[in-house]
Amino acid sequence: MDMFILLTVLKMLSFNEAYNFTCPSQAHWNLRAKSMCKPQRNYTCLFNVTFRVNIYRDRCSRPRILGPGYKYVFQPNLNRATCSVTRFQPFIFDTIGHSDCTYQKSLCNSLGQETYETGNTTVDRKCICNTDSGYLFVRNLKNQCYCNPSTEDCSCYLGINPYNETVKLKDIKCYDDMKMTRSRYLGDRKKSSCILLKKH
Ligand SMILES: *[C@@H]1O[C@H](CO)[C@@H](O)[C@H](O)[C@H]1NC(C)=O
Ligand SMILES: *[C@@H]1O[C@H](CO)[C@@H](O)[C@H](O)[C@H]1NC(C)=O
Ligand SMILES: *[C@@H]1O[C@H](CO)[C@@H](O)[C@H](O)[C@H]1NC(C)=O
Ligand SMILES: *[C@@H]1O[C@H](CO)[C@@H](O)[C@H](O)[C@H]1NC(C)=O
Ligand SMILES: *[C@@H]1O[C@H](CO)[C@@H](O)[C@H](O)[C@H]1NC(C)=O
Repeated sequence: MDMFILLTVLKMLSFNEAYNFTCPSQAHWNLRAKSMCKPQRNYTCLFNVTFRVNIYRDRCSRPRILGPGYKYVFQPNLNRATCSVTRFQPFIFDTIGHSDCTYQKSLCNSLGQETYETGNTTVDRKCICNTDSGYLFVRNLKNQCYCNPSTEDCSCYLGINPYNETVKLKDIKCYDDMKMTRSRYLGDRKKSSCILLKKH
């Protein structure tokens, strides 16, 4: 009986440890790689997506690379996978020091911001300011209405009323762009399009 309990506890512990395992951070990656694999470059730590259990696993394999937009996973052995919808990989993916697509996609959800374009797995999301509610970009963006949060400051501020006759051409263009984005978005989701109605 005692033996049974001990075994159960050990099993639970090892299950927990396996379940909670995450790949080492950049600082600890080399330490673990050195202690596990020879050569160190063979250390591979990836998501194991088999049977829909998302667990990280590490193995000694050989270093591998993939083109932008992709990463490797164990499935159960090494396999190519696209980045998840929340991440992107703009350059070559390399198993030395990396276990997932490099960047998290921006959310475009700060005050007045909305998504202009989600983008594919190689680029960040693009943001736009909600001109319907009078929001404009803080920075004067050259000749475009969307903003790339990876390379620009995409904050919005409450600016002029978009229906004001004296509004500058640039802002009117952005307003129309915003409307098009909205109708695309709403069209996709088959929602009511009443907010698209022009108010003047
Ligand atoms: C694993 O996670 C569970 C639940 O989040 C926690 O109770 C347990 O203590 C963790 N185990 C280890 C070894 O970190
Ligand atoms: C480690 O990598 C080398 C090539 O760099 C390869 O020949 C060797 O088989 C790899 N080791 C393992 C355990 O996969
Ligand atoms: C991935 O998980 C499956 C199922 O648990 C297992 O059979 C396989 O060996 C794992 N692969 C690696 C590389 O750990
Ligand atoms: C992803 O989008 C970028 C920019 O919009 C484009 O240049 C690239 O070709 C696209 N890649 C794929 C695989 O669709
Ligand atoms: C329109 O914009 C101008 C300049 O920004 C401003 O002086 C005026 O009060 C605005 N009018 C309305 C009705 O919002």
